[in-house]
Amino acid sequence: MPDNYMLNFDTRELPQEDDEYIVLGSGIAGLYTALAASRAGGSVTVLTKQTMMDTGTDKAQGGIAAALGDTDSPLLHREDTLVAGAGLCDAEAVAALVSEGPDRVRELIGLGAIFDCDSQGLCLTREGAHSRRRILHASGDATGAEIQRVLTGRVQEDNNIKVLENHYVVDLLVRENTCYGVLAYDRDRRSFRVFRGKVVVLATGGLGRLFEHNTNPEIATGDGIAIAFRAGAEVMDMEFIQSHPTVLNLPGAPRFLISEAVRGEGAYLRNCQGQRFMPRYHDLAELAPRDIVVRAILKEMAVTNSNIVYLDLTHLDPEVVRLRFPNITKTCAAYKLDITVDPIPVAPAAHYMMGGVKTNLVGETSVRGLYACGEVSCPGVHGANRLASNSLLDGLVFGGRIVEETRKFLKDYQPRRPEFACDWLLEPAGIDYAALRKELEVLMGDKVGPVRSGSGLKEALKFFDHWGYLFRHGVEDAGQMEVKNMLQVGEMVAEAALARRESRGGHYRVDYPDTRRRWQKHIIFRR
Ligand code: SIN
Repeated sequence: MPDNYMLNFDTRELPQEDDEYIVLGSGIAGLYTALAASRAGGSVTVLTKQTMMDTGTDKAQGGIAAALGDTDSPLLHREDTLVAGAGLCDAEAVAALVSEGPDRVRELIGLGAIFDCDSQGLCLTREGAHSRRRILHASGDATGAEIQRVLTGRVQEDNNIKVLENHYVVDLLVRENTCYGVLAYDRDRRSFRVFRGKVVVLATGGLGRLFEHNTNPEIATGDGIAIAFRAGAEVMDMEFIQSHPTVLNLPGAPRFLISEAVRGEGAYLRNCQGQRFMPRYHDLAELAPRDIVVRAILKEMAVTNSNIVYLDLTHLDPEVVRLRFPNITKTCAAYKLDITVDPIPVAPAAHYMMGGVKTNLVGETSVRGLYACGEVSCPGVHGANRLASNSLLDGLVFGGRIVEETRKFLKDYQPRRPEFACDWLLEPAGIDYAALRKELEVLMGDKVGPVRSGSGLKEALKFFDHWGYLFRHGVEDAGQMEVKNMLQVGEMVAEAALARRESRGGHYRVDYPDTRRRWQKHIIFRR
């Protein structure tokens, strides 16, 4: 069992600052929560590990789902979300998501977000497992960048919000199950600081970087889950990791996401022999739920003895393709692929974590004063498999709910000011953390990826067990802290995946390929 903290410290020896809200992370969930808190009269400090723009939000392509179309309704959106979630969604959380989503999106438009429109109004596209066209997009395939631009701008001009970049949160400061703030490492000044808050909001994003092949930004190393777990918060559904079916797979090129919206607009998946295969696997063909598309791709790869399949847009109108997907067109062109003529070589890669820090319907974790929203959190909206483009919406809806909830008690709340210290950790271990990180990423991809087996998972757990001794040692820098967080979170994913003896949503076991009724339940970790 790891110790509580990452390193030795004493808060009495460190500079300390107070604010009402301490928000960790600067993607849609963090910045929207900060803006909502400020508008409600609160003052906020946002801590972000790199720059404000280094977020999963900024990279999001496809869009944001909301029932805004004439033939759509929150009920239909709810139905699609529950089906994709494969029996593990929290129905009330989903109802909140889909019914409050449209207003939150309108609010985003009010803040200045420009989504693509035509003469009829907003352009809505379709993605996998959606029964209606309900995905708003911006600049074709740069939806996240537009949302990030607007929220960053609004936050920067807000006097109630202070943003500190390059601040890595080392640990939460929790006593008797109440969170009083955070210990952070200022990477520019190479010094530690304490931030005390009445409300601490985790919005630190996901863990895709644990896997060798992934679509995530550098920051996605599972830190929020690791610090919350060390502080005693409950963590749920860690076995459910969603792979994205279509990520550019070209030697020398980055693993660049090719949006599901491309299939939404009619692209085909073909195996390396040029055969279209998805109609053989599902009625919805290329627009089947992601886990089904991913496994179909892996099967086609195995059968054809190849490590790629192709995403083919060559039958679509080239002008429409260029206009609708300018970012994908440009990125592929940089690697000499003309997507209107050349099929795109793709393979699946880790994309999104459905589980995370368990919260209730107002974003509250099992630790008082600690809230979570966005990918780091698990309010139960995504179940075992997230419906495409529901993630940006999730950050907005639950960020808003956290503020509505906390404003009720904040004015009269004067938290105690306990001091915190740790002096029991040994000297840093003096191992090669960069090599360890690489080993972990390869292992997670091989043994804990989209197709798992009991024996592979046991191998992974042996690895985590071996490195467990590192938690008795301190660390020297933020890079080492990151690797330790990755070890802690990777172990939870492998352990939950081994425990769940069935296949469901983003979790697939070759040795237990069926979904089992008795496993229609959650796995919860508690320190
Ligand atoms: C995509 O554009 O395919 C990603 C959308 C998502 O993961 O929701």
